[in-house]
Amino acid sequence: MIDIQTIDWNEVWKEKKATRSSPVRDSTIWNKRAPSFAENSAKTVYAEAFVKIVNPKQSWTVFDMGCGAGTLATPFAKLCKAVTAADFSDTMLDILRKQCDKLKISNVKTIKASWEDDWSGAGIELHDVAIASRSLVVDDLRSAIMKVNGIARKRVYISTIVDDGPYDRQVFDAIGRELNMGPDYIYNYNLLYQMGIRANIDFITEKNRIYKNCYQLVESMQWMLGDMTLEEEEKFNDHLDKHLVCKAGWWMLDYEKETRWAVIWWDKN
Ligand SMILES: C[S@@+](CC[C@H](N)C(=O)[O-])C[C@H]1O[C@@H](n2cnc3c(N)ncnc32)[C@H](O)[C@@H]1O
Repeated sequence: MIDIQTIDWNEVWKEKKATRSSPVRDSTIWNKRAPSFAENSAKTVYAEAFVKIVNPKQSWTVFDMGCGAGTLATPFAKLCKAVTAADFSDTMLDILRKQCDKLKISNVKTIKASWEDDWSGAGIELHDVAIASRSLVVDDLRSAIMKVNGIARKRVYISTIVDDGPYDRQVFDAIGRELNMGPDYIYNYNLLYQMGIRANIDFITEKNRIYKNCYQLVESMQWMLGDMTLEEEEKFNDHLDKHLVCKAGWWMLDYEKETRWAVIWWDKN
């Protein structure tokens, strides 16, 4: 009989992560992707749904690790006392600062830091609530969770993929490439359980995204695939020919692709 307490979920998570087929993402890659990521994130229901799950309090100070271009930092700044937004991508932080200027938001402090840095050395202090939204891209999940848990006084929220997350398996099948997304939320949840944290889970579901121009849609799909061989590119173009449609000026795929995220959260006590 398998006793789940004897399984080292951090090791299982690492083993599963090693099988992941998508490209490695360092800060250079995130810098490059930042403008389109910011634009696309602003159009999804994710931020609104996340805020609804959290139901933020005006008195809170919030730490947002791997904040990106401010998908959550901006709405939380409007609802809470202050937000500290950290990321290792300069371009993401630049876009966030510009967005705050544009929206006249003055309670967001940005810090360039990675998961691996010494956070107190980087000026990251205790906050009421800590968030790591879709940003737990780390080598050691247990250490990252301990770090984000240690920075929160009241509550922690992490979010991650369910199944394939935003990746479109049909595209991978079409170009003849295997898709392995590595560990999804259930690994995080089991690890938390093993760490003595009895967490709650909510889910966010996004329907197919639609785009004003077809290049944005194609770009959002190319991002999943990284570099393609000539043969893969041909198959990718065939897939687009078959499935890319324009309705009332909006570009979309002619099949349903749901993206699900798990928001896992717990109170500190
Ligand atoms: C998918 S985006 C998520 C952004 C935002 N939190 C959201 O939910 O829209 C992942 C973010 O994590 C950042 N990131 C990835 N690995 C990181 C690391 N090791 N240290 C700090 N930030 C990292 C990336 O630069 C990127 O901005």
